[in-house]
Amino acid sequence: MALFTWSDKYSVNINEIDNQHKKLIGIINELHDAMSKGKSNDILSNVLQDLIDYTRVHFANEERIMNMHGYHDYTAHKAAHEDLLRQVTKFDKEFREGKFGLSIQMMNFLKDWLSKHILETDKKYSPFLNSKGVI
Ligand SMILES: [Fe+2]
Ligand SMILES: [Fe+2]
Repeated sequence: MALFTWSDKYSVNINEIDNQHKKLIGIINELHDAMSKGKSNDILSNVLQDLIDYTRVHFANEERIMNMHGYHDYTAHKAAHEDLLRQVTKFDKEFREGKFGLSIQMMNFLKDWLSKHILETDKKYSPFLNSKGVI
């Protein structure tokens, strides 16, 4: 069973961003699935790298759109993105060094972070960006 299931409550009313969030959820599920099946650390490491890479792409895209339209909460939102990237990059480094294994706690952390961030932070820009014609 998938760890994280998309539903309409996660929609930010912007098609491109919803699609990116769905892709992130997909990679989190892929990582969870690989972990549950006891896949090798090499495989887990590759999926974790995909997650980090795509998270960077998504954050940069979201930040570009917010900045372009002069969104008032841009700085704090960007700081939240950077904070997660710092944590995940540190985890990835320790995972590669064999200091950490991938755990259900880590998977829940990723899932909860993304879920909470979409619901409580991303969704706040929707009315503003929609009013600027971003849909
Ligand atoms: Fe965000
Ligand atoms: Fe987002």
